[in-house]
Amino acid sequence: MNSYSFSPAGRGYGIRVNEDAFEKEARPMAELANTTTAPSRIVVTGGSSGIGLAVARHYAAEGAVVGIIGRSDERLARARAELAGEPGDVRTAAADVGDESALTAAVRDLGDELGGIDLLVCSAGIDGEMGAACEEVTTDSFREVLDVNVVGAFVAVRTAIPFLKESPCGSVVLIGSDSGFVSVPGMLAYNASKGALVQLTRALAVELHDAHGIRVNSVCPSIVDTPLAREGLGVESFEHVDYPVQSAEDIAWSVAYLASPRSRAVNGVNLLSDFGYTGRSSFPA
Ligand SMILES: NC(=O)c1ccc[n+]([C@@H]2O[C@H](COP(=O)([O-])OP(=O)(O)OC[C@H]3O[C@@H](n4cnc5c(N)ncnc54)[C@H](OP(=O)(O)O)[C@@H]3O)[C@@H](O)[C@H]2O)c1
Repeated sequence: MNSYSFSPAGRGYGIRVNEDAFEKEARPMAELANTTTAPSRIVVTGGSSGIGLAVARHYAAEGAVVGIIGRSDERLARARAELAGEPGDVRTAAADVGDESALTAAVRDLGDELGGIDLLVCSAGIDGEMGAACEEVTTDSFREVLDVNVVGAFVAVRTAIPFLKESPCGSVVLIGSDSGFVSVPGMLAYNASKGALVQLTRALAVELHDAHGIRVNSVCPSIVDTPLAREGLGVESFEHVDYPVQSAEDIAWSVAYLASPRSRAVNGVNLLSDFGYTGRSSFPA
């Protein structure tokens, strides 16, 4: 019998969990693992610009219904107008992902409007005090980066679970960063937040797949040509820079791969998209 049941008692390490929070009868793993359904109801936080907007465009072009979340009504309206020519349907909800009740309401409203959620993409993110030395970084700004980049992703996922677990192909893709693996001076809070997302991805993947068949992966890019990166690096264009830069569309393709039924066995993966930089040895060859 190819069925699967989740044991909240874990592997005998004596971790006490609230058993009521976990389903006693999990869905048959064979059914979940053999899905051929592609996501058609997508929610993207940070969908009004950069990587999130490219993800929204990718799915709208495929005829999906996409709900985007961002703080600014104006930017949301602009994104919606920009995607109006695509065959899909785009809905918007304004919320600051650092505001738990606003974010919860936005994800729920979009989930209801879309008739469910197959894919949640958490792209909303900020970089904090770029270039500031450790002694200069204020506790408030450090906390703000963690609130938006980490707690915001957690709250969005938690709110989307009731929708994702009803989907035939429920999955989550977090937008992490190569800054979760490597660091440079002056990006302390951002580095810490993206490092946390790496492990949040794994922890959610293990728990949500076992309990509900929901896959959770992340894409971790190096520099992507977006307003955030241009502002952070103080450039108007990346055209003549001597370091590798990728496009937001490159990241949208990685998201689409991770959320596709073709990657049904891929779960808990933090996909580095960095031109191979982190694979390089210090060996002088
Ligand atoms: N660009 C890069 O080089 C790069 C590299 C690695 C990882 N990333 C990650 O990719 C993600 C997207 O960044 P991006 O480069 O696409 O930036 P972007 O062009 O500035 O877009 C950021 C999006 O997030 C929204 N947002 C920001 N703070 C928010 C908040 N508190 N609540 C709700 N929405 C918020 C913005 O809309 P509003 O401002 O209207 O809220 C916007 O839609 C981030 O998590 C970033 O860390 C970027």
